[in-house]
Amino acid sequence: MTQTKSEKLFADALSVLPGGVSRNTIFRTPHPFYAEKGEGCYVTDIEGVKRIDFANNMASLIHGHAYAPIVEAVSTQLTKGSCFTMATEIEVHYAKLLCERTPSFDKIRFVNSGTEAVMAMLKASRAYTGKAKIAKVEGAYHGSYDYAEVSQTANPNNWGDIDNPKSIPVAVGTPEKALDDVVVIPFNDIERAIKILDQHKDEIACILVDLLPHRVGLIPASNDFINALHKWTRKNKSLLVFDEVITFRTNYSGAQQSYDAKPDLTAMGKVIGGGFPAGALAGSDEVMKVLDPTQAKVLLPHSGTFSANPITMTAGYTAMRDFDQAAVKKVNDLASYAKEEINKVINDVGINACVTGAGSMFRIHLKAQAPKNYREAYADKTESKLITELVDYLFDHGIMMINTCTATLSTAMTTKEINHLVSTLKDGFTHIKPKMIQ
Ligand SMILES: Cc1ncc(COP(=O)(O)O)c(C=O)c1O
Repeated sequence: MTQTKSEKLFADALSVLPGGVSRNTIFRTPHPFYAEKGEGCYVTDIEGVKRIDFANNMASLIHGHAYAPIVEAVSTQLTKGSCFTMATEIEVHYAKLLCERTPSFDKIRFVNSGTEAVMAMLKASRAYTGKAKIAKVEGAYHGSYDYAEVSQTANPNNWGDIDNPKSIPVAVGTPEKALDDVVVIPFNDIERAIKILDQHKDEIACILVDLLPHRVGLIPASNDFINALHKWTRKNKSLLVFDEVITFRTNYSGAQQSYDAKPDLTAMGKVIGGGFPAGALAGSDEVMKVLDPTQAKVLLPHSGTFSANPITMTAGYTAMRDFDQAAVKKVNDLASYAKEEINKVINDVGINACVTGAGSMFRIHLKAQAPKNYREAYADKTESKLITELVDYLFDHGIMMINTCTATLSTAMTTKEINHLVSTLKDGFTHIKPKMIQ
């Protein structure tokens, strides 16, 4: 039998990359798919198959692929050089653009990924407070720093009592000390969270929260929950820090725009790179001072070879300049329309499913009711298998989703693509319904 181009490439990849991939997110059986090119909201693979891209490189492309103003601006910068042992003008312009955009940002420090931004944020919180522990929401994904990743893969066999969720490591070999220094709280559960925090009240540097955590079900944090955490941090000389790596796309000033409480620090990534590797840490003057090399004692010495390189800065600046209020409204309205239409289809097919999300993102669960926390959002083997079948069905019918059946929109999309998704989803639901225990 002749091999497809992808099969052949994967066979080669297996000999040089562990499991044939450079990131597990894109791993699929029998092999990953290989992209040839992207144009707007469409991606063509190396077999020549074109699909609508609702994954947008894990929510990082806000204008879709090969957005002309970014291609042009980056091409011009490339001819002038891609990185220097000097600062550049564009990083100052871009810092101003982001600081003007979000009231809690007095100062910003650019880094190279969301993981690095969260790591710098936790270290800045420790440096500022002089405390070691961090608190985080059960199941929330914050990248792969030892402390930030604790509990990300907790499951019913190990997550423990809801009154005191366990610190479950992701990687074998995670130091016990790291696990001890992470306090896990349940999402949107004020009473339990405060009780848990109170057990460590003199030791917590910061409470780390994603306002719309993907793995917790893509459900928004309640304003009351955030207010309660904020109050706790004021009372206990701790910081409230937001991971907006994914949610910064959900509103003009990030998801924090919809909340009363201002964070002390915010980590960003994904869309702020305009398609290039990026991250940033922003926050109040007072806390950001820990990074300031003009201080007599620098509490958090911090560098990065490629931080604020002019390619990322140029792409990010162009992407965010064009992701203005009108563009934010456009993608968010499109997502609301999609959710309404998907709900209709769920009713029409009569399947136990629901759709959650906010801003320009939504996630489909094979559950009758929207989950309220990580434990409810957790997909058991049967649900995971069916979600994979649904995602594969969509893929085979011209639609690319994130593997949890999550969609993230781009400004390149119109109702045409949404309608295509909705009608294909209807067929997908009909396809998997007989396999579900209703
Ligand atoms: C909420 C959140 N935080 C942090 C990260 C890590 O970002 P990166 O993959 O750029 O390291 C991600 C990535 O998916 C994320 O979704």
